[in-house]
Amino acid sequence: MPIPLYGTKGHLSAKNTSDGPRNLKEAEFCAEDTDILSGLSPASVLYTTMRMWNYTEKVLDHFRNPRNVGEIENPDGIGEVGSLACGDALKLTFKLDANGRIADIRFKTFGCASAIASSSALTEMVKGMTLEEAERVTNQDIANYLGGLPEQKMHCSVMGREALQAAIAHYRTGRPSRTVLDGKVVCTCFGITEDALLSTIRENGLTTVEQITHYTKAGGGCGKCKPTLEALLARVEEERQKIRASVPPASRLTTLQKIRLIEETLDREIRPLLKKDGGDIELVDVDGNRVVVSLRGTCAGCQVSTVTLKDVVEAKLREFVSPDMEVVETGK
Ligand code: FES
Repeated sequence: MPIPLYGTKGHLSAKNTSDGPRNLKEAEFCAEDTDILSGLSPASVLYTTMRMWNYTEKVLDHFRNPRNVGEIENPDGIGEVGSLACGDALKLTFKLDANGRIADIRFKTFGCASAIASSSALTEMVKGMTLEEAERVTNQDIANYLGGLPEQKMHCSVMGREALQAAIAHYRTGRPSRTVLDGKVVCTCFGITEDALLSTIRENGLTTVEQITHYTKAGGGCGKCKPTLEALLARVEEERQKIRASVPPASRLTTLQKIRLIEETLDREIRPLLKKDGGDIELVDVDGNRVVVSLRGTCAGCQVSTVTLKDVVEAKLREFVSPDMEVVETGK
């Protein structure tokens, strides 16, 4: 059978056992909407999936060996999003330790390889975090952790973020997790609310309805919601234009404004990336466009710290503060 190079939908669900799917034999193939993968052996399904989507090694690793599968008994928080009818569903449960950090977090999912990988990655990322830290994890962080996801599969990372937010909201409010993410439903085919759409558009810089469909599935059914999706895009674009108009060019920033902007960029764009690998960064000094920082944790002794400084820290500060920023490590 020829292997198609275009996308299709084959579902592999992480079986709801405490051990989870250790290999494809334990994964359950559901071919209700494809005739391409049905009938293939588990190994062929994996090969075909790889060819179709060009997944990174990290995605495949988390798909083949998903971490933290299952459900915690008497959890502190439960988050459920999606539905089997829509083709993807995810249930997250977590337990906090005495210091309010996520001691254990487990998932059950029904979806494609990237849904399993995204859920697995998310649980690894947030273990040990406080809820305040965990709720700052974006779907883009999940995709970055996996070395990237095809745009058509970004909705899997969005589902992970939404389930986590629902679980945290459940912990805080005690309201049933399925109704925590309420609000005006824009896409009735997939049950996507206006709030969820606005955050996804803002956080991922989306500009087209097609991208919204890739990230959330909204618009991918009957299409009736598309005019509303266009209106939401226009609303966010208007917001962006207002922000652009209100930020003075870097050359006109006062030193205090520049330091604030650098701190904000470190917090939002850089620190979460470093913390995932056990590192951190501290702003030491700002002299004109020269930014002096100190790397902490595992980043401090890292042999590729110069690459981190130039390719991550300096690149982000050039993007968000000023194109002529230069970053150096203290004492060097
Ligand atoms: S209402 Fe959004 S696709 Fe049908």
